[in-house]
Amino acid sequence: MTKQIIVFASGSGSNFQSLIDAVECGDVVANIRALVVDRLCSATQRAAQHNIDYFEVNRRNDRDYNVKVLTEICRDSDLIVCAGYLSILHADFIAQFSGKIINIHPSLLPKFGGQNMYGMNVHRAVIAAGEKQSGCSVHYVDSGIDTGEIIRQESVLVDKNDTAESLQKKVLVKEHQLLPNVVRELLASL
Ligand code: GRF
Repeated sequence: MTKQIIVFASGSGSNFQSLIDAVECGDVVANIRALVVDRLCSATQRAAQHNIDYFEVNRRNDRDYNVKVLTEICRDSDLIVCAGYLSILHADFIAQFSGKIINIHPSLLPKFGGQNMYGMNVHRAVIAAGEKQSGCSVHYVDSGIDTGEIIRQESVLVDKNDTAESLQKKVLVKEHQLLPNVVRELLASL
């Protein structure tokens, strides 16, 4: 049976695109069954271009209602990939899909994770701290913020001339390699 992936995103969806590309070229043998977004974002355009269904979950809805909706969308999926999804997943949802939800984070966790550590905030904090290296992490999602078991990381060097913007670009290149690789390995082990 073809493995089924659901992707959650809130932004440009470049990591989502890396999974689409990996599936289309056969590096990842799976079907991306749906994209879930929690706001208007350009990730949905990528879904539309590749004939992938997408669903917008309204963040203002009742949380229990959203858990029901997400559970229905993700029913019988093999892997749920959070790729720049900014909403915190409800513990009841995580409990139902325990061990099947992964997230990509643009730092070498446990450094620069947790509340408010998303997007450019992460890269600004890395630069401000004078770190010599940064990178990205793929980890399982648990009920904490960026606290789940780390599956794999890739690092980049931080040059003295790097800005948060240049660091983001360098890290994204690594993210686009790391995420499909981890997804391929996880699906192979199921
Ligand atoms: C990535 O840096 C990812 O690590 C983080 O959010 C960003 C999403 O970028 N969680 P994109 O929408 O995949 O381009």
